[in-house]
Amino acid sequence: MFLVTGATGGLGRRIVRRLREQEIPVKAFVRLTSHYRELEDKGAEILIGDLRQVRDIERACQGVKYVISAHGSGRSPQDLDYRANIDLIDAAKANGVEHFVFISVLGADRGYEDAPAFKAKRAVEKYLQASGLNYTILRPAGFASNLLGLAETFRQTGIYVLIGDPKSRTSIVSTDDLAKIAIDSVTVPGAKNQVLAVGGADILQRQDIPRIFGRLFNREPIIINPPLVAFDGIRSAIGFLQPQTQKALGTLRTLLANEFFCTPGEVAQLEEMFDMKLESLDSFLRRYVGI
Ligand SMILES: NC(=O)c1ccc[n+]([C@@H]2O[C@H](COP(=O)([O-])OP(=O)(O)OC[C@H]3O[C@@H](n4cnc5c(N)ncnc54)[C@H](OP(=O)(O)O)[C@@H]3O)[C@@H](O)[C@H]2O)c1
Repeated sequence: MFLVTGATGGLGRRIVRRLREQEIPVKAFVRLTSHYRELEDKGAEILIGDLRQVRDIERACQGVKYVISAHGSGRSPQDLDYRANIDLIDAAKANGVEHFVFISVLGADRGYEDAPAFKAKRAVEKYLQASGLNYTILRPAGFASNLLGLAETFRQTGIYVLIGDPKSRTSIVSTDDLAKIAIDSVTVPGAKNQVLAVGGADILQRQDIPRIFGRLFNREPIIINPPLVAFDGIRSAIGFLQPQTQKALGTLRTLLANEFFCTPGEVAQLEEMFDMKLESLDSFLRRYVGI
């Protein structure tokens, strides 16, 4: 039995779907307010709870062989990216879980001081590595599924807003590939107790994204490119009213200001380890936007 947290998220939903396609039993940890009907229909066992409640986490880990931690934090990295994962690791250990897969983030080890989510991820990575559990830590680049909404806006308007350096590099990863890698990590021998960077097939510049949209929808992109200082100005203004939001925006700023890509060597290693060919962004989008 797998336990998947964040089961209604962009990644978690794909993990649960894939497990159920293979008729593998899975408990989907969801909130009462989550949209979980599809997962239930596919035969997932639904565990309703809140990851901020340690009792819910302990209940969820009972009878579980593998845990995939795929929840996201939104505005509360301390509660969800950090505390919930520590509780999950403790409960996994207490219940004799055989393998724990943690979805971290590319660059978690770079010491970004202004990025609460990155700091939390790094602290959890260290805790998991010292826990005695078998683990795989996946450090993905940005998810292709995040771009589906932007693609739809582009289809209608031709507009793409790109904050910061258009030439900075990224390896957007197919969220479906990442779901497969997360699941297979518990059985592929080479993935045991490893920290793996996960990116897509290509290293892109951020300005390539609207160009790919342009090719897909056969329309010339209108790129609106505010500099990072404009973001900083807005962030400071928000800080006067909502200091917590200003702090949380540090993670977004870190994402906007830095490069997140995998080397060709890392991509080749993943492809060999998981016996797969990683998908390009172009291919992912074509599958989802129906072109
Ligand atoms: N997105 C990216 O580009 C990216 C890149 C690198 C790493 N990651 C990491 O990958 C993981 C998955 O990301 P994602 O984009 O798939 O996440 P997501 O779409 O934002 O989904 C977040 C999930 O966490 C659940 N959740 C939030 N608060 C909860 C709570 N208190 N109790 C129970 N569940 C709660 C949400 O449930 P509801 O449906 O109820 O809201 C949802 O299922 C995260 O750890 C993220 O940090 C993401």
